[in-house]
Order: sequence, then structure tokens, then C-alpha cells
Amino acid sequence: MSEDKKIIFSGVQPSGIPSLGNYIGAFKNWLLLQNDYNCLYSIVDMHAITVRQEPAALRKKARDLLTLYLALGLDPEKNIIYYQSHVSAHAELAWILNCFTYMGELNRMTQFKEKSQKHSENINAGLFTYPVLMAADILLYQTDLVPVGEDQRQHLEIARDIALRFNNIYGEVFKIPEAYIPKTGAKIMGLQNPSKKMSKSESDSDNNVIYILDEPDKIAAKIKRSVTDSDNRVIYSPDKPGISNLLNIYCALTAKSIEQAEDEFASKGYGDFKAAVAEVVIEELKPVHQRFKELSADKAYIDEVIKKGAEKANYLSQKTLRKVQKKVGFPAKL
Ligand code: TYM
Repeated sequence: MSEDKKIIFSGVQPSGIPSLGNYIGAFKNWLLLQNDYNCLYSIVDMHAITVRQEPAALRKKARDLLTLYLALGLDPEKNIIYYQSHVSAHAELAWILNCFTYMGELNRMTQFKEKSQKHSENINAGLFTYPVLMAADILLYQTDLVPVGEDQRQHLEIARDIALRFNNIYGEVFKIPEAYIPKTGAKIMGLQNPSKKMSKSESDSDNNVIYILDEPDKIAAKIKRSVTDSDNRVIYSPDKPGISNLLNIYCALTAKSIEQAEDEFASKGYGDFKAAVAEVVIEELKPVHQRFKELSADKAYIDEVIKKGAEKANYLSQKTLRKVQKKVGFPAKL
């Protein structure tokens, strides 16, 4: 890692094949940032077990996600790509930070409220302290920037609060991280239910979510079937959530402004617009499919990336962990 570059940390849960929301909200920025920063991109499998997972399926999803990171174009020579569970410092720091986090703060977390409603049969302590593990992920590496979608903003804020609290007591131990959230596409909504975010772990309707590895005709069909109003004018407006969502997708992928896109489709109807959105999504994701197939077949290469990533992250994680352990008064190892 080069000394003069700032540090980026981000992660995705292996809770399913990532969605177009993950792509636009997070991955796209990861790819842009990989040249100018020292980046750690983790597969956060420890976060994933806050809801019940089938062990063999979780292992497969984690490996597929790591393979997808590479297929998207993240270079394992430039970035540290690794499984969170391979670096025990995450859990060790999370425990310490748990003792510097208030129940009241965690009770306010929107994601906890939503997830405990959805998984009412399993409201476990891990689900509650999830943001503390996330804070540990970030603070462990003295992270400057965290590229995420809008739904993670609150978790970033609590990570900053925890870091500031710790620093106030013990001195400048942690760097205070900043969120890096895209201007367009920070919250991509479901295609069938545009009042809720598009989510990879949402299995209620397959048509609601575009998965990064969906075949082109499937993508086109999902966009064609997406829910809109009947007004047939391509305009961005709060009372047109379906069309506004498609405009966000279109603009995030073409780098056009909303006004430019509205002008482009001023004399066209929803049919033409949906076809155009489908085309940009398909073109964007096409190269990823091919690379994913090739890489999945190369077991030895993937294994090597897993091994090297864990080594590098383990090495880096020790510096901050040791410092924190000393500050809180743990005895030195002899
Ligand atoms: P996860 O796995 O839910 O989502 C991964 C990333 O995708 C973004 N995202 C979206 N962006 C736009 N529109 C959407 N519909 C959409 N859905 C998801 C998320 O904001 C995220 O950036 N807690 C995190 C994982 C995590 C993490 C971390 C992230 C664990 N530790 C440390 C950053 C730093 C999560 O569940 O993301």
C-alpha cells in the first residue's frame, strides 16, 4: 500500500447476488476510486449471519461475491479483497467498541427497526449491534472514505460518533471517516414497488430486482414490466416514483443529468424510454457476465486471491487493534 494515498473501506454482505442498486450505489464508485486510493473491499460474511443462513449456501454466496468483485474489474493487486471472517481483528475491535456504544443509539437505527420487523422470529443481539461491527470494519484500517449507498448513511454517522467518543477519552486513535455517496443513484428503488429500495435479499418478487448476473432478456423484461403511472410523460417527480427511479438508473449509467434525459425523451412515451433504460443497463453489465464465468472456472486463481487478501488485511489490521487494546488497558502480550 502506498503511504501517500488515502484509505477506502467498503463491503457488501453475501446475502444474495448483488442488485443493480448495489452496482449503482456502491460498486460503480469502488471501480472509480481504486486507482487513486488504497482500497479494502471486504465480503462481510460476519454481518450476513445476523439473519439465518444455510451454511453451504452462505459459503457459495461469499465465493460468488468475491468472484464478482473481480469480474466487475476490481484489481486484487491494487485493492485488498478479502473475507471479513478471515480477519479476526474485526470481531476483536467490535467487542471493544460495543463497550463504547449506547443502547439508545443502536435503538434509533432504521435498519435495525426494519430488520427486526422482517425477522421478528430472530431479533438477535448481532442484529442489534450490527452497526458496531460495521464501525469496527471501518475504523480498523484508519479509513478516510467509505463509498456506500444512501441506506448506509446512518451507520456511517454512528461509526463517526463512536470514533469521536473513543478519541475524546484516549487521544487521536481513530481517523474520522467520511461517507462517499453518489449524487445520482444513491437509492435505487424496486421496479415493482418503487417506494422501497431495491434489495438483493428481498425475495418476495423476482421482478422487483435486477441482479447483476441476470441475462440481457431478463433485464429487458423486468424493466418493461416495471410499475409506472399512466401519464406517459418522462418527467422526474415525487408523484411519479417508477419513472423517477428509471430516470435515476438511466442517468447514473450514462452520466447525463435528469434535465438532459427529460429533454431526450420529451416527445417519446414510456415504451421507448424503458427500451433505452434496458439497453444501457444491459450494455453496462454485459462484460461482467463473461468475466464472471471465466473467473468462476479458475479455482486456483480465486483461492490465491482469497489467501493473499486475508494475509494483507490481517497484517494491516493489527496496528490499530494493538493500539486500541493498549489504550483500554489490556495487558501486553509477552
Ligand atoms: P449491503 O450489502 O446491503 O449493500 C451493499 C452496498 O450497496 C448499497 N445499496 C444500494 N445503493 C443504492 N440503491 C440501493 N437500492 C442499494 N441497496 C444497497 C449499500 O448502501 C452498500 O453500499 N452494512 C453494509 C455492508 C457493510 C459495510 C461495512 C459497508 C458492512 N461493513 C463497512 C461499508 C463499510 C450492507 O449491508 O450493505
